[in-house]
Amino acid sequence: MSLATPTRNVPFFNYRGAFAQDREKFIEIMTNVLDRGAFIMQSDVFDFEKNLASYLGVKHAFGLANGTDAIQIGLMAAGLKQGDEVLFPSHTMVATPAAIHMAGGIPVPVEMGPDHMMDPGDLERNITSKTKAICPVQVNGRTCDMDAIQAVCDKYGLFIVEDAAQGLGSKFKGRCAGTFGAAGTFSFYPAKVLGCFGDGGGLVTNDDNVADAVTMLRDHGRREDGEIRSWGFNSRLDNMQAAILNFQLESYDSVIARRREIAAQYQAQLGDFDRVVLPPGPDNGDHFDVYQNYELEADDRDALQVFLKENGIGTLIQWSGKAVHQWEGLGMTGAKLPKTEKFFTRCLMIPMNMTITDEEVGYVTGKIREFYA
Ligand SMILES: Cc1ncc(COP(=O)(O)O)c(C=O)c1O
Repeated sequence: MSLATPTRNVPFFNYRGAFAQDREKFIEIMTNVLDRGAFIMQSDVFDFEKNLASYLGVKHAFGLANGTDAIQIGLMAAGLKQGDEVLFPSHTMVATPAAIHMAGGIPVPVEMGPDHMMDPGDLERNITSKTKAICPVQVNGRTCDMDAIQAVCDKYGLFIVEDAAQGLGSKFKGRCAGTFGAAGTFSFYPAKVLGCFGDGGGLVTNDDNVADAVTMLRDHGRREDGEIRSWGFNSRLDNMQAAILNFQLESYDSVIARRREIAAQYQAQLGDFDRVVLPPGPDNGDHFDVYQNYELEADDRDALQVFLKENGIGTLIQWSGKAVHQWEGLGMTGAKLPKTEKFFTRCLMIPMNMTITDEEVGYVTGKIREFYA
């Protein structure tokens, strides 16, 4: 260990810090909800839905129980049927294919491109007569090349449900993640860029028929007037979480700006360093990234992670270290995805959050350089 630089504690994500940052305000919001006895489907949920729809420029927004339900409900509302195949990138949380499976579909994993996103060039070879939809994942706070994905959908008559769990506010050609397909879905898990203090999810759509179906699917098959029209789930966004999200959404743009600033610092401090491959920088053409995560590729990744840990720096290998198709219990190990598999031997996420200081960013990059020296 270097004597020159003292060891510090730079957590990967500071859960207590997320609350402590605005402690008084959060307590005021929660007390207000409790005093009103406003627990399920009260004004805070409807306000949040209105605010989210207006933030994204879409017609309908729904607060749901979590981001996984949102994908499943989105697929069902868009018309997925038993046995339909849905293409998804294997570089994602198991939640994406799990939602496809639970909606009755068959998840078909596809490759990632050099920007870590679904590779549109790998879609066509995976299309069969049973393929009905594509579920692009706006992973790490970046939006896929939606033009290329849409072109494949147009050619084969497929629909899109976007898993934008990590992508709220990210854009492709000026258009927000979540707004491209039949439905777009979000997670408000505490470590997300827009996070609450428990589970939470959202779904947006411009399609009135999809919106009608979601209204019923998330609330026991009931319409707003109480009439039961179909089978449904209980997947409502908790009112307390909605109140917190409403407050967080007010300053969301400044949160994105700070995360982009951190990404620019990583880029400036490590961009010339050939032992790591960085994710695309914040000045990247058609894309506007919100940096849910900062995921790099590193030589000697496992030893680097141990070294950083010894120096007080928290890191994470995403999705427990494997692409989805590599988990034997899920029955997709036959998929041939060499680029994705290679990536999972090299990927590492370094701290990207709202509590890290500029000085700590410098400490992290200094330690990465020190490791290779
Ligand atoms: C890409 C992706 N999809 C889906 C989910 C599921 O969201 P939730 O945990 O809210 O169910 C997550 C959550 O981490 C995610 O990162």
